[in-house]
Amino acid sequence: MSPEATSPDLPIFYRFTEPIVGMIWAQTTQGIIGSDGGMPWHLPEDMAHFKRVTAGHPVVMGRKTWESFPEKYRPLPGRTNIVVTRQETWGSTPDAGGAVVLSNVEEALVEAQFSPGGNEVWVIGGAQLFGQVLEDCNVAVVTVINTDVPGDTQAPALGPEWTFRGATPKEGWHTSKNGTEYRFTLWAKGESEFEAPE
Ligand SMILES: NC(=O)c1ccc[n+]([C@@H]2O[C@H](COP(=O)([O-])OP(=O)(O)OC[C@H]3O[C@@H](n4cnc5c(N)ncnc54)[C@H](OP(=O)(O)O)[C@@H]3O)[C@@H](O)[C@H]2O)c1
Repeated sequence: MSPEATSPDLPIFYRFTEPIVGMIWAQTTQGIIGSDGGMPWHLPEDMAHFKRVTAGHPVVMGRKTWESFPEKYRPLPGRTNIVVTRQETWGSTPDAGGAVVLSNVEEALVEAQFSPGGNEVWVIGGAQLFGQVLEDCNVAVVTVINTDVPGDTQAPALGPEWTFRGATPKEGWHTSKNGTEYRFTLWAKGESEFEAPE
C-alpha cells in the first residue's frame, strides 16, 4: 500500500495503490462519535474531507447512520450507498430510496468490492457497523475534534494490531472557520509501508 498525497487543498487525501477496506469517522477526544442519532458538532471542513476521501468509492453503513442524514443528502452522491438492516421489508420503504439494502455485513462488504470504485471500500459507521468490520478493515481515517462534548455512541477501540501512521497537522490542531479545533489522523494494520504525507 503506498498512498500519495494528491490534493493540495485538503490536508489528507490518499490514493491507494492496493485494494483497501477502510473505516472513516470523526470523534471527540473522548471517542464520542454520536449523540441522539446525530453528531454533536458541526464541522464543514470535516464534511469536505469525508467527501474527498470517499468520493467515487462505495460506502457501507448501518441503517441508523443512513437515517441520520437529512433526506435531501441521501444517497451520498457519486458513491454506491450500501445500507445494512435486519428488517426484511425496510428496503422497500421510501426511507430506503437510493440505497442498496442488504441484511448482512459480510455480504455488504463483498457487494461494495464489486461496486464502482470498489478497490477502496469505506465503512462510514456507525458504532454497530464499526464493531463488526474491524477484522476486515486495514485502514482507519479518524478526525479528532478537540471537544469533550458528551454523547451516546462510541468510536471503536483500535487494538495493538493497528498502528498510528501520521496526523495533519503533525502537532496541535487545525482551527475551523467556526473556531472548532480538529486534526486528521491515519491508522493502518500490519507492516505496510504506509505513512501520512508531510
Ligand atoms: N462521527 C461519525 O463519524 C459518525 C459516523 C457514522 C455514524 N455516526 C453516529 O452514530 C450513530 C449511529 O450509530 P449506531 O451504532 O447507533 O447505528 P448504525 O451502526 O449506524 O446502524 C445500526 C443498525 O444497522 C443494522 N445492523 C447492524 N448490524 C447488522 C447486521 N449484522 N446485519 C444487518 N443489519 C445490521 C441494524 O438496522 P435495523 O435496526 O434496521 O435492523 C442496526 O439497528 C448516530 O448518532 C450517527 O450520527 C457518527
